[in-house]
Amino acid sequence: MNTAPAPVDWTAPADHLAPVYAQWPIDVVDASGVHLHTRDGRRILDLYGGHAVAALGYSHPRLIAALEAQARSLIFQSNAVPLEVRARAATRLTRFAGLGLDTAFFVSTGAEANENALKLALKITGRRKVVAVEGSFHGRTAAAGAVTWGAAKKWYGFPQAPFDVAFVPKGDLAAIAGTVGTDTAAVIVEPVQGVAGAVDLGQPFLAALRARCDEVGVQLVFDEVQCGMGRTGFPFAANMYGVTPDMITTAKALGAGFPCAALLMANHVASHLKADDLGTTFGGGPMACAMIEAVVDIIETEGLLANVRTLSRRLRDTCVVGPVTGVQGAGFLTGLRTRRPARDVQRELLERDILTGTSGDPHVVRILAPFVLDTTHIDALRDALASLPA
Ligand SMILES: Cc1ncc(COP(=O)(O)O)c(C=O)c1O
Repeated sequence: MNTAPAPVDWTAPADHLAPVYAQWPIDVVDASGVHLHTRDGRRILDLYGGHAVAALGYSHPRLIAALEAQARSLIFQSNAVPLEVRARAATRLTRFAGLGLDTAFFVSTGAEANENALKLALKITGRRKVVAVEGSFHGRTAAAGAVTWGAAKKWYGFPQAPFDVAFVPKGDLAAIAGTVGTDTAAVIVEPVQGVAGAVDLGQPFLAALRARCDEVGVQLVFDEVQCGMGRTGFPFAANMYGVTPDMITTAKALGAGFPCAALLMANHVASHLKADDLGTTFGGGPMACAMIEAVVDIIETEGLLANVRTLSRRLRDTCVVGPVTGVQGAGFLTGLRTRRPARDVQRELLERDILTGTSGDPHVVRILAPFVLDTTHIDALRDALASLPA
């Protein structure tokens, strides 16, 4: 049998990177504060932060100092070695949340955190169905992709989901009881949907999910990978809504640029854990933990939650100008609803040296601004929007 591969018409790209990303036409060489600097000398106001990651902007001196100190002291050791910095990060993070989800499992990415949350819920309940919300995005891995709305059609790729999946329409309180039942292990939900376009699911819907989960013994998981860690102007969206899930997953802003993620668990979840139930090589590494500790410290001591709340109000009050017809989302997970295609508005803003993002909604420009913004930056956005055709 001839096993030689068939000839293919393919040459690796000049940069040797898999060609899976549409890229913006900017050549960034470095950054400071809330500005990116390009090779051709532009200074671009970054209101997108690399998909919500650069929450403290760039070159924050206290973040750099923590990174450098930890790198000099101990760059890595695994979870087999107890480390003070890891315990400090877990203590600081769970206290910051203040929700009674007092046990942390550190991993490296948002999808990995969701993967572990769902695995735990399935194991604890012995059930085989997970419910998510239409419009959701939970990540690219097998379990996280299975509960991501539209993934099966667009990019999922695995021959089957690892569990049964059902989606509930967002905001549809009446549909909850019919979808979440005694066969359900977990409900996973982004309290403010990110990729969908900064869609605030609202307190009544989240409270109804909580009530139904209690009624039929289902684990409620808040995916706060994008909307958590201060982005709403509260530690977590759970704090903002006054609805406490059984687990929270978080990432992105958690390390402000250093890759890390966490799964926070209530006692009744963590009490099921024993050695070897979960594992990871990189999660909980000392560099990541030093960053988590520093990020929480900076958010708390620099009053950044209040800053997000104040400035996001200013954004809502002043930025409905030019092509913008309304503002949605919460805090600095903001969607500018546009009369014209969001992609055009985003391009025109970038031509005016303001970087924003788009979303799953073709009429929403997404703003994932750093928490260290000041009023002049919001005013610059307003002026730029006002100068665009309606
Ligand atoms: C809400 C949400 N969950 C999960 C993920 C996946 O995170 P990661 O890309 O770190 O795996 C993302 C990424 O955009 C996200 O926005």
